[in-house]
Amino acid sequence: MKVDVLLGLQWGDEGKGKVVDVLTPRYDVVARFQGGPNAGHTLEFEGKKYVLRSIPSGIFQHGQVNIIGNGVVLDPILFRDEAQDLQKSGVDIKKVLKISRKAHLIMPTHRLLDAAYEKLKGDAKIGTTGKGIGPTYTDKVSRNGLRVGDILSDFDKKYAVAKARHIALLTALGETPDIAEIEAKWFDAIEYLKEYEFIDSEFFINKMIASGKSVLCEGAQGSLLDVDFGSYPFVTSSNTVCAGACTGLGVAPSKIGEVYGIFKAYCTRVGSGPFPTELFDETGSKIRAIGHEYGAVTGRERRCGWIDLVALRYTIMLNGVTQLIMMKSDVLDDFDTIKACVAYNINGVKTTDFPFSIDNDVTPIYREFPGWKCDMTKMKSADEFPAQFNDYIAFLEKELGVPVTIVSVGPDREQTILR
Ligand code: GDP
Ligand code: IMO
Ligand code: MG
Repeated sequence: MKVDVLLGLQWGDEGKGKVVDVLTPRYDVVARFQGGPNAGHTLEFEGKKYVLRSIPSGIFQHGQVNIIGNGVVLDPILFRDEAQDLQKSGVDIKKVLKISRKAHLIMPTHRLLDAAYEKLKGDAKIGTTGKGIGPTYTDKVSRNGLRVGDILSDFDKKYAVAKARHIALLTALGETPDIAEIEAKWFDAIEYLKEYEFIDSEFFINKMIASGKSVLCEGAQGSLLDVDFGSYPFVTSSNTVCAGACTGLGVAPSKIGEVYGIFKAYCTRVGSGPFPTELFDETGSKIRAIGHEYGAVTGRERRCGWIDLVALRYTIMLNGVTQLIMMKSDVLDDFDTIKACVAYNINGVKTTDFPFSIDNDVTPIYREFPGWKCDMTKMKSADEFPAQFNDYIAFLEKELGVPVTIVSVGPDREQTILR
């Protein structure tokens, strides 16, 4: 059996949570491989809405094993809040969730460092989610991090060493950290974390594969936020691309099967950084209003623009995408004209390659399509799709070279159409 991967092809918030929930019944295991509570994955079903941050989106479909992999960074306080909310909703989470011993812990001081580094950057700030993601991954790579498995031996000492480093750094940055209150809460949450089963995700998943079980890996963020290939430095601190599933769970590349690449029918971005097709006009505001484009975690306004096929071709290549999933098609139901960026004009030169740096010299070249001008939200099958929508999808498939196998026409689990 192979491992399938589902990941975002844009700047995050493509609708990964919704689709993982929809696909989960096809799998035995759902596993998160990177990121942390910077993610906000929204699921809607039976009239209720849930936002998951560190817990895999397979958690609501009963029976599957859900895994937080070694590539994830975990904030015990936020994890406890999220897990207890799920328990209140009737999810027997302790029975189905397993956590990698090698996942790194986000400490209270990591969050302070995140804020301090952002302050230092001034106008050049990244606009992080403020969850301590960058400093936690920095500690991991610089070999100073604390891992979930550390909780079980000599933890106070390890914590004290890491904290002393952070306090020295914060003090050098002119901060006067006072963490007594949050630290007590954090240690309480560490006790709560101990109630979960810790595993070596690499052994667990490989044994599952060997015994014929199927695994779905859930990405967080999107490929354009990848630390190597995204719009650096305006990126997150992990590898959000498919390779991240290998390192973030302990799965060999030869074990990867389907790669589901998920994208919105338009494009959004939260935080700072380049966005060639961003719309600053009424059209952008209309997409934001209809698409409810406000952050699931921070409530921040998402920047909105037209779909960017230069960027999508790039991320499809990086991930080896085998199937495309198009989200939020319904948001464009009421537009007379829909645009897709097919190339960039950079200082008079046309290119279809995603450039090293995107600045004001990049002008999108658009192709226009007539809108379908009808309500898609109640459609149940691809046979009902209007001709203009079919033409638009056919165009995307031709440009991107990969079939669109799922179309989402609303936030609910049921508003999902297989092609
Ligand atoms: P994720 O981070 O990739 O899981 O995406 P988010 O949950 O942050 O953002 C996606 C938002 O769009 C959520 O509010 C979803 O409920 C909503 N959504 C998902 N699919 C659709 C869709 O097809 N149509 C509409 N209108 N909303 C959708
Ligand atoms: P999901 O999984 C959208 C963005 C932040 C910021 C940059 C770095 O819901 O798609 P970080 O806190 O990671 O250091 O912030 O990355 N960002 C996201 N944008 N969706 C996300 O996750 C994001 N996670 C981080 O806004 O620009
Ligand atoms: Mg999100």
